[in-house]
Amino acid sequence: MGRAHSNAWGQVGRFFEPALLPVLHSIAGRNKDTLAAFAQRWGWAHWTVRWQDLAADRAVQLVDIGTPNDSHAEIAVAMLQAGKHVACEKPLAGTLAHARAMRDAAELAALRGVQSFVWFNYRRCPAVALAHQLVAEGRIGKLHHVRARYLQSWGGKDTPLSWRFDAARAGSGAHGDLNAHIIDLARFLTGDEIAVIHGATARTFVEQRERIADSAATLSSAARRGTRTQPAARGRSAGAAGKGRSTVDDCVLFLAGMAGGAVASFEASRVATGHLNDNSIELNGERGALRFDFEDMNVLQYFDATEPRRTAGWRRIMVTAGEHPWVSRWWPEAHVLGYEHGFTNMAADITAALAGGAAAKAIPVPLPTFADGYETQRVLEASMLAAHHGAAVKLSEVR
Ligand SMILES: NC(=O)c1ccc[n+]([C@@H]2O[C@H](COP(=O)([O-])OP(=O)(O)OC[C@H]3O[C@@H](n4cnc5c(N)ncnc54)[C@H](O)[C@@H]3O)[C@@H](O)[C@H]2O)c1
Repeated sequence: MGRAHSNAWGQVGRFFEPALLPVLHSIAGRNKDTLAAFAQRWGWAHWTVRWQDLAADRAVQLVDIGTPNDSHAEIAVAMLQAGKHVACEKPLAGTLAHARAMRDAAELAALRGVQSFVWFNYRRCPAVALAHQLVAEGRIGKLHHVRARYLQSWGGKDTPLSWRFDAARAGSGAHGDLNAHIIDLARFLTGDEIAVIHGATARTFVEQRERIADSAATLSSAARRGTRTQPAARGRSAGAAGKGRSTVDDCVLFLAGMAGGAVASFEASRVATGHLNDNSIELNGERGALRFDFEDMNVLQYFDATEPRRTAGWRRIMVTAGEHPWVSRWWPEAHVLGYEHGFTNMAADITAALAGGAAAKAIPVPLPTFADGYETQRVLEASMLAAHHGAAVKLSEVR
């Protein structure tokens, strides 16, 4: 994420005309041998191996957190208390207690005009934003179904034991990593809340994994050195140092009920062979239906059930016209956008929110805050409880 975020902050001033221009002031990390090169490559003026330096630096106004999940709370709370705006990666935290502390710190800081954001970047795909707008306009009417899945396949037995397989560091596996995104998408698109988890199942298929010998290696850096599509190569390139136990789920599925009466299904997996980054969501309402699939992210599918049956059918909308959110900032019509544009669109909207006034009013769809991150974390917690106890769990019981 260091690369995705650095790229986004660097691009905002080039593609948007932000009321506040981001300056890449300092990057914090752990490894002084690689930080200087990273800072130079991505345009950061300074670097430090102590994130606490950023809290103490008066020149720093916004802190962007892209570290493993167990460190989000400590860093975010310190920054909010120091009066810095914070944008934090998802899931908001590894545990509900951490997420609650972050939500509370953000509420307090907001009294002093300090803002918080969570990188639910898929909200900033133009097709997802259009779906949000169509739902808000009543185009699909009363909602019956939400069907969400986020399926990947990189987590097979040859993938080594990074922090992502350590419950103490990650909180959970596919659940917090992937379900967090689609829970947020479901909340964002419907404007409704999940009220009950009817049932859930969590499974760890690969219990023992090779340890990573190179302690500075991350899965993504290992993958860059090897190949991205061959998990076996990832494992080898990271270097093996004996096996250790994975303490997280490889997949979590759950069924939920929304406060407004719709039913919802969620499925997240890192071992869904054949699916690479299948982040998709479908909404079915009385008047119509919408479907988004990230692997075809420039398209929104829309079924208008008010059309005559004779010619009604799924419409494939290329969300690449100037009328679509953010698109006019980028390339000519149908010159498609990719993963990184969602981050840049979000970085641009964060700068608009911080500028306030007309810039903030022009943000096309709501930005996710720590309050949103906390609501998603409650759903993550409730569904894990449901899986653990084999019973339904009401969200009102998870605070
Ligand atoms: N929004 C998305 O699409 C998306 C995608 C991937 C990851 N993420 C999230 O981003 C976060 C990071 O994931 P990643 O895949 O980039 O992980 P990673 O392991 O590739 O990188 C984490 C980085 O954090 C650094 N780090 C660890 N502890 C630190 C500390 N105490 N102080 C300073 N730096 C520290 C590491 O050195 C490393 O450079 C996680 O919360 C993850 O869930 C989000």
